[in-house]
Amino acid sequence: MKQLFISVALISLAGSSAAWAAEKPTGLVGTHGQSELSTQASSMLPLCASCHGIEGISTEGMYPNLAGQKVEYLVKQLQQFKTRERNDPIMSPMAEPLSPEMVNELAGYFSSLK
Ligand code: HEC
Repeated sequence: MKQLFISVALISLAGSSAAWAAEKPTGLVGTHGQSELSTQASSMLPLCASCHGIEGISTEGMYPNLAGQKVEYLVKQLQQFKTRERNDPIMSPMAEPLSPEMVNELAGYFSSLK
């Protein structure tokens, strides 16, 4: 079910994000160092950004801002969501499929935003 949810979420985003996953998102390259993200990590970014904002500033009161947060903290939170040490019905399934490299890259990306 979790996988299904993630697939559905990804598919529903595909309209706006297909180009991102396929190639470097030209509009964002350079400004935030997103060009340094691996294909894997940048393919997750539209999903993360749908709640946390592409600039790391969320649009919903219940979704935290990530921009400028300490990278070590973000890595730790994602690791804890994965192990369910920090268990959240929304975020734990989001973190579950992330590899350690993707955790580092996504944390680094959001941390680098101002
Ligand atoms: C459906 C909305 C949603 C999506 C998609 C989502 N998140 Fe979250 N995220 C949340 C919510 C809600 C919380 C707060 C959870 C809590 O209350 O413990 C959160 C918390 C976090 C935190 C901890 C922030 C803090 O200040 O402690 C990090 C880091 C994070 N998300 C990263 C990500 C990454 C990376 C992705 C993409 C793989 C992602 N999120 C996708 C909703 C979302």
